[in-house]
Parts: sequence; structure tokens; C-alpha cells
Amino acid sequence: MVCLGNICRSPLAQGILEEKAKAEGIEMEVDSAGTANYHVGEEPDHRSIAKAKEYGIDISYYRGRQIHRTDFDQFDYIFAMDTSNHNNILSLTSDPKEQQKVKLILNLSDPGKNLSVPDPYYGGEEGFENVYQMLDRACDVFIERIKSGEA
Ligand code: 4NP
Repeated sequence: MVCLGNICRSPLAQGILEEKAKAEGIEMEVDSAGTANYHVGEEPDHRSIAKAKEYGIDISYYRGRQIHRTDFDQFDYIFAMDTSNHNNILSLTSDPKEQQKVKLILNLSDPGKNLSVPDPYYGGEEGFENVYQMLDRACDVFIERIKSGEA
């Protein structure tokens, strides 16, 4: 799960997917990262921690990191939160196999629309609820694809 800072959107996405995988008994390594290095080593934004907690998910122990080239080997899917980060992640890839792993997360729930999860950093609390709902829907689709063998 990749956003810009790895403190607002992608930690929420990581927490949501981890929780759903656990609930379904699906073994999956989920991680998150930022394309930028501004918040490396920091805990998630307090508003993301609070939003996750509201839904029974603890993300307070996550720490920010920047995406690294080794992630293209380590992970089967790399979900970008928005089109800008999607482009930046693609620019780090070195071959079509790596490029194929990079997806816009909202294309799970809204196929082909290339929608972005809005950056809630400069907005109010309601932005975090909106982000949560979008990510919850997208992660549900991903879990269903895994269960059906499509992913
Ligand atoms: P995120 O949100 O990409 O969802 O983690 C942001 C966090 C920090 C900044 C921008 C977006 N920033 O400019 O520091």
C-alpha cells in the first residue's frame, strides 16, 4: 500500500487489508510505504490512528518508510493510493513484470476509472472517514478476488 507520506492513507489501507485477511484466515504479508521520505520512522498521523481504532484496528505501531526497489521483488501487488503516486512508483520499475504489479487501489472497486484516494492530510476529520470507506470497499474486492483465485 503506497501513498505519498506513509502516514495517512497507506497505513490505513495496510491495517484494513491485514484485518480482513486475518478474519478470512488468509495468510498474506501486507506492508505500506511512501513515495516521499518526509515521514520515515514516524508513526501514522494521529487522525489515521484514531480512525482505525474506531473500527477496531491498531495501526499505532506502524512506522513510516519509503518505497524501495526491493519491494518489487518482495510483493506480488503494489497498490497506489492516487494517480500521482502511481506514476511515481511506475518510474521506479525496471521491467514489465514489475510494472504489472503496480495498480491503482480504487480500480479494484471502480474498475477502469483510475480514481484517486484523496489526500486527507490538510483537511478535517471527515476526510479520514471518507478515505476509510473507500479503502474498505477496495480491500473487500481484493479479498474476494483472492478467495475466488482471480488474484
Ligand atoms: P499520505 O498523506 O500520503 O496519505 O500519508 C500525506 C502525508 C504527509 C504529507 C502529504 C500527504 N506531507 O506533505 O507531509
